[in-house]
Amino acid sequence: MRKPFIAANWKMNKTLAETREFLSEFIAGVKDMPDVDIAVAPPFTSLSAAAENLSDTNIILAAQDVFYEDKGAYTGEISPLMLVDCGCKYVIIGHSERRQYFQETDNIINRKSSAARKAGLGVIMCVGESLEEREAGKTFDILLRELEKGLDGIGPQNLVIAYEPIWAIGTGKTATPEQAQKAHAYIRERLRILYGNRADEFCIIYGGSATPENIDSLMACEDVDGALVGGASLKVESFTRIVKFRKEQ
Ligand code: PGA
Repeated sequence: MRKPFIAANWKMNKTLAETREFLSEFIAGVKDMPDVDIAVAPPFTSLSAAAENLSDTNIILAAQDVFYEDKGAYTGEISPLMLVDCGCKYVIIGHSERRQYFQETDNIINRKSSAARKAGLGVIMCVGESLEEREAGKTFDILLRELEKGLDGIGPQNLVIAYEPIWAIGTGKTATPEQAQKAHAYIRERLRILYGNRADEFCIIYGGSATPENIDSLMACEDVDGALVGGASLKVESFTRIVKFRKEQ
């Protein structure tokens, strides 16, 4: 019922030339895939070039972050309108690296989401617990807080939630399908409280060391509707295989 959503988060990787090279090869490999929503989030400097490559393709352009004002004296920041102007359709908000290294709070994440929404951008909102929080049995508490605060006042259109346990990001330590399913089911339950039956329409995607080797078993989980892929999205071959996951029975 839900169309899978698989997104590449390139983080601070790839020059213009590398972006163009990746995309021209990648586009050719995934062009006949109407049953999966595929998104690529390059760094800001590559967005315009990527938009040129991606026009008239089935691949969605996304940004990795956004600021919450439309314009003004905010040195170094990028507004939602600028992202739309570049051809972006979605933006990743609240990635744990932003929360950790740039002190982004739930309130900032909420303001960014609401500004993105106002400009017509889809939002991929990241939530997830640290290892310490998991070991202390606080996983659901963290998810609840991040969802309630981050989504306050945010409408349901083009909303994707990325469950990204921090201990699994870039560590090679993936959540087991059981762990992922449990967290995703909890997230859906909370979304149902916030959005009623529309909760069944949302893609809840998994992020954290997703690879060609583990994607099939993750996608076999009932509430895992896709993936947000960092490291393994940097190579055409591995990201293509992830996009072409096989549904296990
Ligand atoms: P990873 O990153 O796939 O390299 O673990 C995922 C993410 O941070 O979105």
